[in-house]
Formats: sequence, C-alpha cells, structure tokens
Amino acid sequence: MKIACLGGGPAGLYFAISMKLRDAAHDITVFERNKPDDTFGWGVVLSDETFENLAKNDPLSAGEIRRHFAYWDDIAVHYRGQKIVSTGHGFSGIARKKLLQLLQQRARGLGIELRFETEIASAAELAKTHDLVVAADGLNSRTRNEFAEHFKPAIETRKNKFVWLGTHQKFDDAFTFIFEETEHGWIWAHAYQFDADTATFIVECADDTWQKFGFGTMSQDENCRACEKIFAKYLGGHHLMSNAAHVRGSAWLNFPRVLCEKWSYENIVLMGDAAATAHFSVGSGTKLAMESAIAMANYLRSEPTMAAAFAKYEDARRTEVLRLQSAARNSLEWFEDVERYLHLDPVQFNYSLLTRSQRISHENLRLRDKKWLEGAEAWFQRLAGAGDNTVRRPMFAPFRLRDMRLKNRIVVSPMAQYKAIDGCPTDWHLVHYGERAKGGAGLVCIEMTCVSPEGRITPGCTGMYAPAHEAAWKRIVDFVHAETDAKICCQLGHSGAKGSTQLGWEEMDAPLQSGNWPVLAPSEIAWSPRNQVARAMTRADMDLVRDQFVASAEMAARCNFDMLEIHCAHGYLLSSFITPLTNKRTDAYGGSLENRMRYPLEIFHAVRAVWPAEKPISVRISASDWVGSDGIEPRDAVEICRILQEAGVDICDVSAGQTSIDARPVYGRMFQTPFSDRIRNETGMATMAVGNIFEPDHVNSILMAGRADLVCLARPHLADPYWTLHAAAKLGDRGEAWPPPYYAGRDQLYRLAGSAEPVPTAV
Ligand SMILES: Cc1cc2nc3c(=O)[nH]c(=O)nc-3n(C[C@H](O)[C@H](O)[C@H](O)COP(=O)(O)OP(=O)(O)OC[C@H]3O[C@@H](n4cnc5c(N)ncnc54)[C@H](O)[C@@H]3O)c2cc1C
Ligand SMILES: Cc1cc2nc3c(=O)[nH]c(=O)nc-3n(C[C@H](O)[C@H](O)[C@H](O)COP(=O)(O)O)c2cc1C
Repeated sequence: MKIACLGGGPAGLYFAISMKLRDAAHDITVFERNKPDDTFGWGVVLSDETFENLAKNDPLSAGEIRRHFAYWDDIAVHYRGQKIVSTGHGFSGIARKKLLQLLQQRARGLGIELRFETEIASAAELAKTHDLVVAADGLNSRTRNEFAEHFKPAIETRKNKFVWLGTHQKFDDAFTFIFEETEHGWIWAHAYQFDADTATFIVECADDTWQKFGFGTMSQDENCRACEKIFAKYLGGHHLMSNAAHVRGSAWLNFPRVLCEKWSYENIVLMGDAAATAHFSVGSGTKLAMESAIAMANYLRSEPTMAAAFAKYEDARRTEVLRLQSAARNSLEWFEDVERYLHLDPVQFNYSLLTRSQRISHENLRLRDKKWLEGAEAWFQRLAGAGDNTVRRPMFAPFRLRDMRLKNRIVVSPMAQYKAIDGCPTDWHLVHYGERAKGGAGLVCIEMTCVSPEGRITPGCTGMYAPAHEAAWKRIVDFVHAETDAKICCQLGHSGAKGSTQLGWEEMDAPLQSGNWPVLAPSEIAWSPRNQVARAMTRADMDLVRDQFVASAEMAARCNFDMLEIHCAHGYLLSSFITPLTNKRTDAYGGSLENRMRYPLEIFHAVRAVWPAEKPISVRISASDWVGSDGIEPRDAVEICRILQEAGVDICDVSAGQTSIDARPVYGRMFQTPFSDRIRNETGMATMAVGNIFEPDHVNSILMAGRADLVCLARPHLADPYWTLHAAAKLGDRGEAWPPPYYAGRDQLYRLAGSAEPVPTAV
C-alpha cells in the first residue's frame, strides 16, 4: 500500500511504524510541516498500561522510550499553606521532543520516508496519489475542516485558560499541583519532571482571573515573568520557559474538546487529536494517539478491505475514546469549578482532586496509599464526631441533624410499594420497612405518604390522613425503634397532576381504567395527553392542602417518626409549583423562582411550626428537569436550595427529573450526584445524593470528597434489605451492629468474607 501520514506527531509517526512492522512492503511517507526538532510543548505522561501496549507492538521503540522515562510515584498538592503528599500513583514522563526523536529514528530505520518542512494544503490531493491517507494533523486538523460535512466534528471550547510552560526547577519527587490565591483570583499549576533537568509546568486559571492579570496582552516572555512571580516560592529561583515560538501571541489556550461523528471518509482516516481530544489533566492525548495507531494498523491487516478496517477501527476505538473523554471531562470540569471546592479542608480537597475524573475509586486509593487514605478516613470520622482514633470508611461515620443521630450515612431511599388499602399501610409495610431497618442503614425513609385521598398517586399509595393510618404507621415506627437502631423518616407528599394513576408495576403514570378522581395542580395542565387536565388551585385549595400537610405532620409526630421529608420533586404537586414547565400562574405563586417557591415554602413553614423542634425536616427536589433552559437546571437548583436553607430546611434530598414527559436524562453511575455536589459546595447546605449509586465504593468516594452528607440507595435496597450489613462484611468492617438473633449468620458471613481480601472495585 502507498500510505501518506499527514502529520509527524505521535499518531502519524507511530502509525507509520506500526504499519511498516506489519508489512515491510508498504510505501509510507510522513509529511510534517515543522523541522524535526521544533516541537511545541514539554513533557508527556504515559501510564504503565500504555507502555505495555507499546512494548507488545514494537519492543524496540518501547525499549528506547523506557530508557528516557522519568518515573515518579507521588502526587503532591500545595494548597492553603499545606503540602499533602500521597503515593502509589505510578506515572512516567518523557520529553515530547525526545519521544518524537525516538519515533523519527525508528521510522527512518524501518525505511519510512520523513518529509519535514512540508506543509500539506489539502488531504484530498494526497488521497489522489495514495491508497491511504492518515490525517494525524493534530488539534487544529485542517483535514477535519476540509471534510467537515463527512466527519461532522463538534468542538467545544472549554472555559479555563492554560499555558504549557517548562522549568529547570526540579519536580522529580512528585507530580505536583500548586494552588495559589492571588489578588485576581485563584491560579494553579500542574508540574511534573520529564527528564533529568526539565519539568513541565502548565499554568491554568479561570477566564476572569486571566483577564484581570492581562495575560492576553503580554508577550510570551512577559507571561513567563508574570507566572514566575506568582509561583516564585515553588520555583527556587528558576525561570519559566515557553517553547511555543511558532504560536502567535501569548500562547495561552482554551482547551478544545473535539468529537467527530465519523472518523473516515473514502481513503482518509482521522487519528489522534484530529479525531478526538482528551484534556491534559488526565494526560492521555498521546496514549490515545498511539493506541489508535496500533488499532488501525491491526485492522488494516486483519480485515479484508480498507472500508471494513475503518469500520472496525471506529467501532473499537470510539468506545475507548469516549470512556477516556468522559473521565477527561469530569477532570476538566473539576478544574473549571475548582472555586467551588476551595473552601474544603486540605485533606478533603486533596481527595476531591485525586478522585476528580472518577476513574480512581476509594478502594483504589487504598491500594495506592493505604496510610494516606486511612489518615483521611480518620479525619472524616473525627469531624463526624466518631472519636479521635476511629479509622473506618466514611459510610460508617455517624451523622447528626438537629437532635437526630444516625449511626451511619446510608439511607433507604423512599420507594412506593403500592400495597396500601385505602391509604392504610398493611403488614406488607411492617415487614418491608422492618426488614430494611434491620438491614443496617442509618435511616429508612418511607414511601411518599399522601396527605389526602385525592393526593395519592395510585389507589395503592399510603396515606396519613385517617386515625387508622396513624395507628398502622405507629406500629411500624415502634417496631423500628424497639428492634433496631435505625431512624425512620416520613416522606409526605401530594400527587398533583400525576395523581389518579395506575400502580407502579401496571402502566405507570397512566390514568386508572375506572374510578379516576379529579386532580389539582398549580395550572390547568395534564401530565401527558393521556392524563386528565388538572384544576388550577384556588387560594381555598391551597389553604386546604396546606392544612392537610399540617395534619399529616402532626400525625407523623405522634407516630414518633424521627424526621420528616417534604416531597417537592418528581412532578408531584409541590414540584409542579417549582418548575416553570407546569407552573403557568400569573399570581404571586407563578413567574419568578421566588414566586414559584412561595407555596412549597408556605407548606414548609406551616409544617415546621407543628413538627418537634428537635427533629429535622428534609425537602426532596428535582435538581434538573432534563429539558434544557426551559426547565429547572442545576444552577436553579442552587438557588432553590439557598431559599430552602434560609427558610430553615435542614437537608436537601437531591433527586432529579420526572417532572416532564419531554425529559431527556443522561443516565450513568451516580448520575445525579453532581447536582448534590454543586448544591452542597456552593450553598453549604447539607445534602443527600441519590441515583444509580450501588457500590460501597461509590458511597465512600461521594462522602469523602464532600459531594453529599448522606447517600440514598433505592433499588439496591429492593434487591437486598441488608445492603449495609453485607457491604460492611465484604469490606471487612466489623463495627456495624447485627440483630442478636442473626449473630450466627453474621459470624458465618464474616468468616467467609475473611477468607478473601476485600476486592476493590473501580468507580
Ligand atoms: C498543554 C498540553 C499538555 C499535554 N500534556 C500531555 C501529557 O502529559 N500526556 C499526553 O499524553 N498528552 C498530552 N497532551 C496532548 C498531546 O500533546 C496530544 O494529544 C498528542 O500530541 C496528539 O498527537 P497527534 O499526533 O494526534 O497530534 P500532534 O502531536 O499535534 O501532531 C500533529 C502534527 O501534525 C503537523 N501538522 C498539522 N497540520 C499539518 C499540515 N497541514 N501539514 C503538515 N503537517 C501538519 C503538526 O505540525 C504536528 O507536528 C498535552 C497537550 C497540551 C495542549
Ligand atoms: C419502586 C420505586 C418506587 C419509588 N417511590 C418513590 C417515592 O415514593 N418517593 C420518592 O421520592 N422517590 C421514589 N422513588 C425514587 C427513589 O427514591 C430514587 O430516587 C430512585 O430510584 C433513584 O435511586 P436508585 O438508583 O438507587 O434506585 C422510587 C423508586 C423506585 C424504584
């Protein structure tokens, strides 16, 4: 095959090498506009895993690369006058220039033609004279633009500014992050050694800070001097250097996140940064480029046609690239939002930084640096009031809200059972909640319990509006208090326009086959075209429903529930007041967020007045309607929580969605946790996180990073009422109390768990 590699970066060179190794008969030319040695940038990082892939593909170049590696194991974080060091992270770095020289040398040795100082104006021209054109022309790929209608690129320019500098100051003991507070805001550096006497020093900050410093108007030299001043105490008198002479202006960049719908067109294929970028803070751009080169070379050999090879390449590499891009996105967003975390204690800040991409889990950190993690766990427990010498996972830390003390941070999330008769809980509920309370969770929240018969979602929903309900709930609460040390929370709600619908396991949210009752809502709307149109509430309706909430809260108090949660989420009555999607009122209860919050707040204040002062109240919200800017977005959720916090709500249970049939949620592990994180760290309000959290590792990393105070698990508790006790046994924690009649089962489980080391799982 006659092959042209457009671009002599890691992707172009390594693809040429990989192809030639598979078939020496290929005629390969690499076209590079720069001179062999005038590359931008400083060092690149490669992981052990990438190195193994390189070694399998070409032991010779891998050996040469290894000889020039700088290794380090530690990550050091300078923050608020402290230096925190953790170890076991295993990185290696190499000068970008050296890497390219080694690849150039290897390519020449294999008979690949390298044409430097050759600018290619159009890949289309090359495509006419070559069987295959690999467009490895980097971040600003001209080929990607030339064939934009086929590749369909999406380029997202990220918010922060960064500049890639170098220094002779040694950072050879650790990958080092330095956070400095200046008169213009926070600015930080990512520094790592890549050869005997040079280190990469990437400086990053928010756009606002960058503007205030006036970096954009400085020459590259002036920039270096300004950054030297900021980071003087870490540079030991060494200079910062720029080698971006080929770049016009100050050399500061905004990171462009590149995605392309297609990577190939006819005989042209995109590779490396041209096809997809991964933020420098996860150090994987070169890895992606070189591993894609290997994959493409493999498929061109294994597949019968070039089209088939392209299809396989796109298929196989896209998943890997998306996985990395998702981690990179988490990481870059962490840096964009870093000001949210700058109030954290250095221990928690460091943890948050280390786990920012969500690729490193709690147990994974333990494998890297047990001592550091145990120190962090002890810090967490101490803060939670567990005593000075407690080293346990964060999920087993106590928590206090008003006078309610929880033994741990696990909450059984409210889950409708649809097993009530005329609103009255039955033996089903006694056994169901009793089992979950025995299962080890610190707090068990009962299902949405409705304040009136019309306020029920379905005929099977529980209520708190009749003496029989109060008696039945009291029996359950008494059992939980007598037989377990779990606390129990009563979730009160009103279904609004989503009422009068079928049981959860029938046709959810669909009207009843017969016996529908009229429903209320802030405005005359129907949940869906199939549901009845709700009646817009009058002031008299609002008074009535408020009084119903109050009466239910009084009953819940007499039942001796430990906590109350007001359901303002998921499209039910109070939620439908908050979201503009369903609140179209023109009176004082519609329009601005402040107005839309007015009725839920009236309910809260009325309930708070009758609820015992020593007991907490939570409010559950939908932090996103998942419909874009027409509905509630996370930034609105922050404002909602500021209002709730000011009103005296003790904790926000941060759920999302179910407020509109047009919602387009983005699911994934812990997918709603970022909302809790944002609310907690921007308002200081206590939060509960919920949504696809199912591993102890998820729970521990959420808590330890300060993304929530409590963690709710719903479906995992349907599958396993004993989720907490089982998790403790698996993790080797023996501190959770089992019901005495079950000791024999506990001991057997401990023995079985003890026979194998707890297995850490990736988050
Ligand atoms: C600040 C910063 C820090 C980074 N840190 C790391 C890190 O630590 N680890 C890591 O793995 N990655 C890192 N990267 C990313 C890494 O540099 C890239 O992902 C990697 O270089 C991609 O390789 P590539 O071959 O696709 O593109 P490039 O390395 O950009 O190579 C493209 C080549 O094509 C040439 N070219 C472009 N157009 C033409 C044309 N028309 N004619 C001829 N030649 C052309 C260019 O001159 C260039 O040499 C970092 C990037 C930045 C910006
Ligand atoms: C069967 C079932 C019933 C639910 N009922 C309620 C409810 O009554 N009140 C409520 O606020 N959330 C309810 N939810 C939502 C859960 O509390 C939780 O927010 C959601 O399931 C996401 O958590 P998970 O991924 O751990 O399941 C219910 C969820 C399920 C699966």
